[in-house]
Amino acid sequence: MSKRKDWWKSSVVYQIYPRSFMDSNGDGIGDIRGIISKLDYLQQLGVDVVWLSPVYQSPNDDNGYDISNYEEIMDEFGTMDDLEELLDEMHKRSIKLVMDLVVNHTSDEHQWFVEAKKSKENPYRDFYIWRTGKDNHPPTDWQSSFGGSTWEYSPETDEYYLHMFSKKQPDLNWENPKVRDSIYKMMKFWLDKGIDGFRMDVINMISKKECLPSYKDWINGNHGFKPYTPNGDSVHQYLQEMHQEVLSKYDIMTVGECPGVSPEQAELYTAADRNELNMVFQFEHMGLDNEPGKSKWDLKPLALKDLKQNLSKWQKQLENKGWNSLYWNNHDQPRIVSRFGNDGEYRVQSAKMLATLLHFMKGTPYIYQGEEIGMTNVRFSKIEDYRDIELKNMYKDRVDHLRWDPAEVMKSIYAKGRDNARTPMQWSGELNGGFSTGTPWIQVNPNYTTINVKNALEDQHSIFYYYKKLIELRKQHEIIVYGDYNLILEDHESVFSYMRSLGNERLLVINNFYEHETVFEIPENMNVQTRELLISNYNDASKHNSASITLRPYESIVYKFIN
Ligand code: NOJ
Repeated sequence: MSKRKDWWKSSVVYQIYPRSFMDSNGDGIGDIRGIISKLDYLQQLGVDVVWLSPVYQSPNDDNGYDISNYEEIMDEFGTMDDLEELLDEMHKRSIKLVMDLVVNHTSDEHQWFVEAKKSKENPYRDFYIWRTGKDNHPPTDWQSSFGGSTWEYSPETDEYYLHMFSKKQPDLNWENPKVRDSIYKMMKFWLDKGIDGFRMDVINMISKKECLPSYKDWINGNHGFKPYTPNGDSVHQYLQEMHQEVLSKYDIMTVGECPGVSPEQAELYTAADRNELNMVFQFEHMGLDNEPGKSKWDLKPLALKDLKQNLSKWQKQLENKGWNSLYWNNHDQPRIVSRFGNDGEYRVQSAKMLATLLHFMKGTPYIYQGEEIGMTNVRFSKIEDYRDIELKNMYKDRVDHLRWDPAEVMKSIYAKGRDNARTPMQWSGELNGGFSTGTPWIQVNPNYTTINVKNALEDQHSIFYYYKKLIELRKQHEIIVYGDYNLILEDHESVFSYMRSLGNERLLVINNFYEHETVFEIPENMNVQTRELLISNYNDASKHNSASITLRPYESIVYKFIN
């Protein structure tokens, strides 16, 4: 199945977080016209698709992931005319547009919820999930993703509604066919405008059927929501229905965000003959640097062998059925060069190494804004300078309630806070990194004076041009898209190396994951006479001409061989 050639398999996707990309009108908030002004830049980079995080009307409790009207544009971001112009201008440059679809929940300010909470008889009541509490307690003791109970009391009707995220994000009731129909209608509204697909927010959480335990279970101490909501009983049925009703009618791409998904489940979501999604975002590799079984804030250094084992497992499982998405970053994750690389002395080398490691795997690569210039994590000294609801709630909980040492809690925020990804795009060394002439909604990372697009474009050895080359290579060598994957040197302590093979061609991808030098031997069965250097993050890598290579700090090399 995965040998079938679909355009989204050979594409590279670039994610834009609109609030932080480019501000065109000086209000400190990125907007659609700002994005339009930077399309030539994206074309120069060579990406095929843009995934645009939500631009719909929203009270911004969770920066647009709480939508109050799916068919209107947020005032701060512009108008529907702007959006249509963006789509046109992208298509003119052969860039496709994938929009965010957030339908596990709405905002509590969405008209459906405003109605639903009025009375138990309201026609929209069943659009959401309501339960009675007992003895002044919520129905279960589940904890929401952003802290606190998943149940919010609604005095109008003396019942609680379910919200897996903030209380301003009530979960929709997908069991109700009217909910599903309304969503399909809205999806068609967008697809008929000519957009090219959807990234579906926490889509594996939509089915809660049969999974709300009774009050008895609550008394017996069920904790957290994870066992109950991801990959619920009816999720595949809903997605197949969505496919039949909507997706199958358009030539589009779909990627479902699926926290807690296993490779076996991912195969169910993405196998072409099951007619659900094209690919999913999985999170296992994003959890390798926290204490197992604990939250992302409970830090643990990454062990390279875990990363090798994990990514290789995903490569193998989805090899013949299904398809992988490949990513290091998004608007919820810290910056990869600070996380798994070295954002000091070896920032450039390690950013390129991580890019190589990812882009030669089998799957569709995603680049998050700023990744292509090696943007880093940020460290604000005061909690007040942060904006993200998730990290602020965590801080409040750990510092105010549990009385943890604030300095320790800040360490977790520096390492994992979502605002690391959300500081404004660094365009130049000018005021606010060229992002805005006003006061940015969140401060710019002070390193913008050196790390910025302008500098990157002026340096032919920059991370930017390295990404551009990776994208070009994907277009030139089919083996990058379709070749089989095999990990080699599984137990090597500092090298992450793998082979791709297609027909009589092979690629050898070599990455020194650390700062210290290490020796790599080219496997004996390779036809070294045919060795062709495709790319390296050191300019003189062509000098490596024996089978034994001393890899320098973070050195990456990719060779192509013909059998
Ligand atoms: C996942 C999104 O990526 C994240 O930013 C958001 O907070 C939650 N879903 C809730 O929509």
